[in-house]
Amino acid sequence: MYDFKIEAVDKATLYRDLAAALEALVAGERDAVANMANAAALIWESLPDLNWAGFYRNIGGELVVGPFQGRPACIRIPFGSGVCGTAAATLQVQRIDDVGAFPGHIACDTASASELVVPIVRHGELIAVLDLDSPSRARFDAEDEVGCVRLAEILARSFETGLRLRSAPPQDERI
Ligand code: SME
Repeated sequence: MYDFKIEAVDKATLYRDLAAALEALVAGERDAVANMANAAALIWESLPDLNWAGFYRNIGGELVVGPFQGRPACIRIPFGSGVCGTAAATLQVQRIDDVGAFPGHIACDTASASELVVPIVRHGELIAVLDLDSPSRARFDAEDEVGCVRLAEILARSFETGLRLRSAPPQDERI
């Protein structure tokens, strides 16, 4: 049984504890969907004021929804569209204080007010994006960004065997 209780008083400690918990959860496991599923659950349980936490995977140059917590979401997002597609196309973190002001924002849930999207990149290749949504404006600050980039790095490393999927993957091994 996994029983992570992460209740830190400050964000630096919160993300340090979260990173340690994620390291423990993915240790010895390379299956990308399994690790994304546990990461989504861990983040959802640990970070306050979220209404969606999860992943979109890079499937053949298109984002396809992956493991998440929250309300059912848009399934496919083209690179370049919305906040997630912009992160995928640019490989840059998107930290958006007011999604209503973001050109092309895709409103899967009208309750979303701010968003943080972190590309998960391994050897220069986009594997997925981590997407966090909040019903509060400007929910995510620079410490959240640094902390989530660290989580993305832990996941990227855990997906190492996912990289062999670049060459003619069997269908059941795609992430
Ligand atoms: N709002 C996102 C779409 C994904 S949902 O938030 C889960 C976007 O603009 O890319």
